[in-house]
Amino acid sequence: MIEAKLEEPALTEKTLDEAAVAAAWDRNADLWTQEVRNGFDLYREVYTFPAFLSFVPSIAGKRVIDLGCGEGSNTRCFARLGGLMTGIDLSPEMIERAREQEEKEPFGIAYEIGSFNELSPFADEEFDCALSTMALMDGPDLSAALRAASRVLKPGGTLCFSILHPCFITPAVKWLTDEAGSYLGLQVGRYFDRAPFVEYWRFSRRSDTSGQQASERPFEVPRFPRTLSDYINAVSDAGFRIARVEEPRPSEEMARKHDWLNRWYQHAPLVLFILAVKA
Ligand SMILES: C[S@@+](CC[C@H](N)C(=O)[O-])C[C@H]1O[C@@H](n2cnc3c(N)ncnc32)[C@H](O)[C@@H]1O
Repeated sequence: MIEAKLEEPALTEKTLDEAAVAAAWDRNADLWTQEVRNGFDLYREVYTFPAFLSFVPSIAGKRVIDLGCGEGSNTRCFARLGGLMTGIDLSPEMIERAREQEEKEPFGIAYEIGSFNELSPFADEEFDCALSTMALMDGPDLSAALRAASRVLKPGGTLCFSILHPCFITPAVKWLTDEAGSYLGLQVGRYFDRAPFVEYWRFSRRSDTSGQQASERPFEVPRFPRTLSDYINAVSDAGFRIARVEEPRPSEEMARKHDWLNRWYQHAPLVLFILAVKA
């Protein structure tokens, strides 16, 4: 997931605003949808999403909003668990693909185009739970997003999200290897650098049996780096009490089966999960 990184200097939250984020995800939408639905996001398939599903509270029969739902693959999984789902995403192209799939395979999911910074289509206290997978680090105003989530949740409602681990996936991150190519650890740099940037990467791992090459074209992902305390304080300032935090580690069995996961088993978690309750 963090291979093939290029950076563009001198971007700010003004130049990389919501319109720019929406436009980038609109451009990603076709390739992203095709690759995710083909199961080419192996980190999601094998490691991060199963771990997230073990972390989320029970959502059966609950009104749930998926913040930054993208083309809706995860939203459909939440619907299969019994959640009464609404998805919202900034990218009209992503939402179009989600709606097309909903027509083919109806789960009763409502999709809205809009920003999780405002959640303007929704009334106060409309939902029991807000979920978000790998999206809150991709929006420019985390505090606004968490305040909006708090507004649309009932008192006692839960917020549960995954993000790239802010301590390990920093703006300058590099795997350290020995002469034989064995991984020694992660070198992280520029942890305090909050300047937004655009990251270019591909789902470069195909399943061992697919025989397919990684796509030529990378995704273009606007990123808004923050520190761990930025996340924790923003959750708390928005009126939530943090109930649980997880830094999922691949199991030993997973690491043995997929050698590309071994470094995350040995050295550092790729993602961070937070579960919080609206006071
Ligand atoms: C990495 S994708 C994850 C999509 C989906 N949750 C998944 O796990 O497949 C990040 C998504 O966040 C969306 N996003 C970024 N900023 C947003 C905002 N302010 N409001 C709503 N969606 C946003 C993007 O359009 C993109 O679809």
